[in-house]
Amino acid sequence: MTTLESHLTSLNVDKGLVSLIRVLMDASQGVSRLLRSACVKKMETANAFGDEQLSIDVESDALIFDLLRESKQVSHAASEEQPELRLLSPDGEFSVVFDPLDGSSIVDCNWTVGSIFGVYRGKSILGKSGRDQVMAAISVYGPRTAFIVAIPQKKLVLEASFFPQLNQWLLTNTFLNGISRVCKSFSPANLRSTADLPGYVRLMEEWSSQKRLTLRYTGGMVPDIAGILIKGNGIFCSPVSQTACAKLRLVFECAPVALIVETAGGSALTGSSDFEKVLDRIIRSLDDRVGIICGSSDEVDHAVHVITSLASYLHMYLDTL
Ligand code: F6P
Repeated sequence: MTTLESHLTSLNVDKGLVSLIRVLMDASQGVSRLLRSACVKKMETANAFGDEQLSIDVESDALIFDLLRESKQVSHAASEEQPELRLLSPDGEFSVVFDPLDGSSIVDCNWTVGSIFGVYRGKSILGKSGRDQVMAAISVYGPRTAFIVAIPQKKLVLEASFFPQLNQWLLTNTFLNGISRVCKSFSPANLRSTADLPGYVRLMEEWSSQKRLTLRYTGGMVPDIAGILIKGNGIFCSPVSQTACAKLRLVFECAPVALIVETAGGSALTGSSDFEKVLDRIIRSLDDRVGIICGSSDEVDHAVHVITSLASYLHMYLDTL
């Protein structure tokens, strides 16, 4: 087995990116250690978005900021916990955005959670789109600690796992077959939107009874997306509606996930009225939120078709009342 870094070097991946990947893996190892040793306590504080904070959110956030600063490679960084771009190293080549711990609502249950990273070249992010990311990664804190990274320029999606007995990150998956168009499992998030979206109700019925897909939903986007990559198919669906607004952030969650899914051959559309590609959505603010429907491309297209056609049918019907 080889290390992720030597594999990347053998593929002539840019040296700066390889050493930033090392920093992100060190950070993930640190968060994994915190998760194994720290108690999960509610804090009296909230982040700038007003979300309740847990001690582990704050500690993971500080740990990642510290390592990014020490690396001197990162000019600016922002996190879901501290959502303004902070200057770290004026000469840094990259800007990094991250969600230190995605799945705060399930971490106290001791379920698998993760971190999400998006990396841009240069000092700014606003006005760019997710397609400008040079790399994106998710870290999965489950029975093993895994790090899945996508480098679109090289059409690469790779997984490394941390082996504590060797103190090394070894390459454990190259996802050679990518995400197939055909889908065998579904992850239905933001189910509250079924109140306004008859199409989402229809899809649930179709997926479970007619197509007999398998339900694979953890309540954490990172393990759900990792599951789609590892099984090579699946759909993650988080549409939004009038009364079930988007809570996922474009910059910290959806754009990095979309980059990983598209690089692996899947597709990722916003789960809102325009259903454009998540990667084409221009970043206007670090608080931009979107729905997302991503994974096996045929099923993503079908889901959008069912949601939009039944929504317009419903509107036509309501207009006649
Ligand atoms: O922070 C967002 C998140 O925890 C995602 O990781 C997850 O997919 C989603 O919330 C779960 O949302 P819901 O409660 O709507 O299923």
